[in-house]
Amino acid sequence: MPNAGSAPHHPGAVIWLTGLSGAGKSSLANALALRLHQLGHPCYVLDGDALRHGLNADLGFSPADRHENNRRTAEVAALFADAGLICITALISPYRADRAAARRACKTGFHEVHVKADLATCEARDPKGLYRRARAGELKGFTGIDAPYEAPQHPELVVDTAGTTLQRAQDLLLDYVLEQVLAPQGLTTLA
Ligand code: ADX
Repeated sequence: MPNAGSAPHHPGAVIWLTGLSGAGKSSLANALALRLHQLGHPCYVLDGDALRHGLNADLGFSPADRHENNRRTAEVAALFADAGLICITALISPYRADRAAARRACKTGFHEVHVKADLATCEARDPKGLYRRARAGELKGFTGIDAPYEAPQHPELVVDTAGTTLQRAQDLLLDYVLEQVLAPQGLTTLA
């Protein structure tokens, strides 16, 4: 049940983006947030890289630390959703069990989105030079190289960023949120 400080007039939801590093999660999350703001829908992005500077600064990349990273983020996302925001998370979240736990923590309104790009594509992009460092053996336990990524089996949406333009991927995600999250609440015409 929402607490007294919640804003029940706007439906909260969690849009949980999962995918390899370099798949485009942060870009998609930020583009979606910008469009939702422009349309008058309150939203907030929880980005794994950013959270690791504060809330999750004590965590590394072992399976246990990733589990805790995902758990804390899910709990915070659930609070944002409870307050009536659309909370967009951008975490690799490589383990199915952790994503299933996030779904349970967020209760209703949880939408798992697989931001899908194959390893070769992500490695070619290598925006932070981390794949190169992982291949050189300087980074251990890097997702996709020597740590697993368990792809979603039944995500609500797959956004393929390898086989389409960034603009098309952004449109696909925005359309999904408008149609599946906001339209059922009669909120797609807010501008
Ligand atoms: S998660 O696995 O715990 O969900 P999270 O999304 O918070 O990961 O952080 C991933 C980001 O941390 C990557 O985009 C990358 O910039 C950085 N990073 C540093 N080391 C690693 C590693 N060993 N594996 C994956 N990402 C890493």
